[in-house]
Amino acid sequence: MNTELFNAKTQKENGTALAGRVIRSGGLVVFPTETVYGLGANGLDGEAVSRIFEAKGRPSDNPLILHIAKKSDVKPLWKHIPDKARLLMDAFWPGPLTLVYLKSPSVPNEVTAGLDTVAVRMPEHKTALALIRAAGVPIAAPSANLSGKPSPTCVRHVIEDMDGRVDIIIDGGDCSIGVESTVLSLVGEPTILRPGGITKEMLEGVIGSVRVANAVLNPLSENEQAASPGMKYRHYAPDCEVAVALGSPKAAAGIINREYQKAEAEGKSCKIFATQQTKNYYNGKKYVIIGDRDMPATLLAALFGALREESEGTDLILAEGIPESGEGLAYMNRLLRASGFKVIKY
Ligand code: TXA
Ligand code: MG
Repeated sequence: MNTELFNAKTQKENGTALAGRVIRSGGLVVFPTETVYGLGANGLDGEAVSRIFEAKGRPSDNPLILHIAKKSDVKPLWKHIPDKARLLMDAFWPGPLTLVYLKSPSVPNEVTAGLDTVAVRMPEHKTALALIRAAGVPIAAPSANLSGKPSPTCVRHVIEDMDGRVDIIIDGGDCSIGVESTVLSLVGEPTILRPGGITKEMLEGVIGSVRVANAVLNPLSENEQAASPGMKYRHYAPDCEVAVALGSPKAAAGIINREYQKAEAEGKSCKIFATQQTKNYYNGKKYVIIGDRDMPATLLAALFGALREESEGTDLILAEGIPESGEGLAYMNRLLRASGFKVIKY
């Protein structure tokens, strides 16, 4: 397939109109959002949606998110709109929050992988909204990476994975949040299935108590598989081994320095994911500063890019764990999954 590349700034009018037509006629378009790049198809066309799974190499039992351009567009997709959803939509849409609720019959089974619920999100990115409007249908879109790889946060990473597999790629620059949206199920007790830029604390400020699915920070157990299909796959796996050191900044740095020396002695090439606060612990070693521990959003924004780029020519990435509050929950979720839950303690 010949993939066309459009720039969201310089080719705005033509690019968006054409991409909208491509979506409507069953094609695939990669577009920027504030979280990560999405791989979109007409969400009401089961056949078009099947092409997404082919292009990504994604298991067909992992359901997709429908992206809409205005709040009222959720109406025909859900059985009805629960009160808590209304409150959350008013507080956080457009934005990085996906809500899961009982689906209406108009949603194709290819989108929901046969579940009786559907995930919906209204993104905040202008190009994403313009594309959904131009298409005139909800856009089903997973992250635009090959299944298993870290999600793409810049167009270079999209091209790496998707060139030749989609009709159009729209270049919108870097994604500001850098990890996928928070996925909250509103079936039964509100439960975070995947943490993201909208934090547990922010959600609780609007609807009260919110659970976090056990699989967010732990390997999935057998009976949890049905609730959050996406969690059972190895995710965000870079091309090298990743290990996470837990504890205070000083303790984590101690573990990392020890493991670094051990691995180098075995002939492995290592890289450290450090933070502003801890860089001085790693003098003379190979490290990258991912962000600032006091502003975990900076860590989130940089993680996926760093996993992709620093894994090249590296055998082992040693990363510091951080507290799981605020955006720290999403950071630890992605980091632990990228490591296959390989945690090193003192
Ligand atoms: O930020 C995002 O959410 C990005 C951008 C493109 O919008 N999209 C994204 O899609 O991350 P994807 O397909 O990579 O992740 C969707 C997650 C998966 O973990 C999937 O299992 C879960 O949402 N999901 C989708 N529908 C669901 C449902 N009905 N019930 C439970 N989980 C669902
Ligand atoms: Mg994904």
